[in-house]
Amino acid sequence: MLPGKMIPPNRANSSGRCSKEVKFCGLFCIIIILQMMYLHWALRRSIVSSGHHYNPSEEVYLPHASFDQIASDIEISDAAQLLPTNGTLFCFVFTAPKYHRTRVPAVASTWLSRCDHGQFFSSKPIDDYGVFSDIFLSKESKNAQVVLHHDIQQAAVPYSTVFKTIPDDYELLFSKTLLALRYTYRTYPDFDWYYKADDDTFVIVEHLRRYLDKLDPSKPHYIGYRLNKHIPRGYHSGGAGYVLSRAAMDAFDKADLYSDRKKCPPCKYEDVGIGRCLASLNIHPKNARNAKGQTLFNPNRPDQVIQSNGSDSVAADSISFHHLSPQQILNLQLFTYSIERPTK
Ligand SMILES: *[C@@H]1O[C@H](CO)[C@@H](O)[C@H](O)[C@H]1NC(C)=O
Ligand SMILES: *[C@@H]1O[C@H](CO)[C@@H](O)[C@H](O)[C@H]1NC(C)=O
Repeated sequence: MLPGKMIPPNRANSSGRCSKEVKFCGLFCIIIILQMMYLHWALRRSIVSSGHHYNPSEEVYLPHASFDQIASDIEISDAAQLLPTNGTLFCFVFTAPKYHRTRVPAVASTWLSRCDHGQFFSSKPIDDYGVFSDIFLSKESKNAQVVLHHDIQQAAVPYSTVFKTIPDDYELLFSKTLLALRYTYRTYPDFDWYYKADDDTFVIVEHLRRYLDKLDPSKPHYIGYRLNKHIPRGYHSGGAGYVLSRAAMDAFDKADLYSDRKKCPPCKYEDVGIGRCLASLNIHPKNARNAKGQTLFNPNRPDQVIQSNGSDSVAADSISFHHLSPQQILNLQLFTYSIERPTK
């Protein structure tokens, strides 16, 4: 028997100490229970106050209002209205107000504008940001503050307030994605490819285009980094981002998966949920690899890939990396686009 698992010999003698512990435990439990009651109340309140029915037994909130009602309320920023409404590649990046001053400027000033049309989807309007010279990191990257210059030009952010009616403070990503897919295809039906990413993703858009060039957008494609869990044929990581062809977007829209809770059941994990919806249409994930068999969409940072699988595993034609701080996104931009490849 392990020493740690032995029964203490003098249990009876320590009864005084025990009862003190019981009292302490009791107090502790009451605090925990009160806290849980408060959280439950706060959650209900925040959801009720945003004007939606919320059934706590449902795993996730789903938009109960009709799509047309929700869509008529969505605000499209001036910068987004100036972008082309047709082309090869439409990119949409999910964000939330708490990242408007940090992750949004990093993504907006780097890869997003290399898509034919690149937009943020958030719940609130996004202010113009300054062309910043630096991002300071206080302790942790999530506290990153964008530091603005004095004599900056303001840059306007292309965004739509797609998530205006969905509360931010709950695991509602799946609902957000259903809404985003329908909104995107109904508003911008004239692109070949639709790429969904997060606000902590970095994308080498030229590599994405080169990969897609070989494929036919009139066939239903669902491309990214495949995870083989939860669903028989797997699903694509949401963080590495995934691409849907025009035909896949069209099938999603025509089958009305937005409203069909049988084919498209609610799921706590948006990427699993979307994989399941698409599987109901016989659209299955395609793991993007190059001729060397290397992964192109990465759900991790480059240093994490190297640590797990060695530097040979990072593809020269890598498309995306994930879990990056704003500072890391700026660094990747610098090393990918500004620093020349040394020649001997
Ligand atoms: C794309 O949109 C522009 C206007 O934004 C229009 O002039 C052009 O004809 C469109 N091209 C196609 C192929 O629809
Ligand atoms: C390392 O490679 C394995 C097998 O291809 C893959 O499942 C895993 O995600 C990779 N690790 C990272 C951090 O990318």
